[in-house]
Amino acid sequence: MRKPLIAGNWKMNGSLALLETMKQALSSARVSSDVDVAIIPPFTLLMSAGKILAGSSAGIGAQTLHPESSGAYTGEISASMLAECGVRYVLVGHSERRTLFAEDDQAVLARVKAALGAGLVPVLCVGETLEERETDRVETVVLGQVSTVIDALSAEERSRLVIAYEPVWAIGTGRTATPDQAQQVHAMIRSWLSDKDLALGESMRLLYGGSMKADNAADLLSRPDIDGGLIGGASLKPDDFIAICHAAG
Ligand code: G3P
Repeated sequence: MRKPLIAGNWKMNGSLALLETMKQALSSARVSSDVDVAIIPPFTLLMSAGKILAGSSAGIGAQTLHPESSGAYTGEISASMLAECGVRYVLVGHSERRTLFAEDDQAVLARVKAALGAGLVPVLCVGETLEERETDRVETVVLGQVSTVIDALSAEERSRLVIAYEPVWAIGTGRTATPDQAQQVHAMIRSWLSDKDLALGESMRLLYGGSMKADNAADLLSRPDIDGGLIGGASLKPDDFIAICHAAG
């Protein structure tokens, strides 16, 4: 019922050459049409990504946005600017934005609303730090991040959201959450959503992110509440990224 989404977050990496290589890899890979694929490169590659990936099945995503629609915000990019570049998805609340750029839950909510207002699909990233996990605060932290956004949206707006669970301790560390650990948190999020609105719980795509790779993707993606992946490092290696896409379909 929920179509898997495999999204590659390139972070501050990548080049035109990598876009070309990725396009060729996607074209010859024949990824199942039952899987949505997205490439999320840096801002500077978005326009080119739209052109280069035009013939492929991959959608384009952005890594962040500014909540205002225009104005004196040097260095920032608005939702409508992203839409003009052909962007479909936008990450919001990635732990690197929360930590390095001090984006709190209210800043995240403002960005989700701006994205929805421009017709983009926000991918709301949530997840606990190692210290929060070790002090039994996973539920409080993760559901706090989810509820701040969900409770402020209309039913129609909620239906356009994707949520990515990325335990901070698993990002770029090579330390993946076990499929059981990931499934447990995904089930918790889905159950919270279902209590609020059964249809929302059943339809919300919940992605896992944090050292997902070609050799662990199938196991993670086989779990009932894991509907895809938000991939960092492995998304920069076309063969690995394609292998993860195949594991989803
Ligand atoms: O957004 C993707 C992410 O933060 C996971 O990164 O390198 O652990 O796959 P990585």
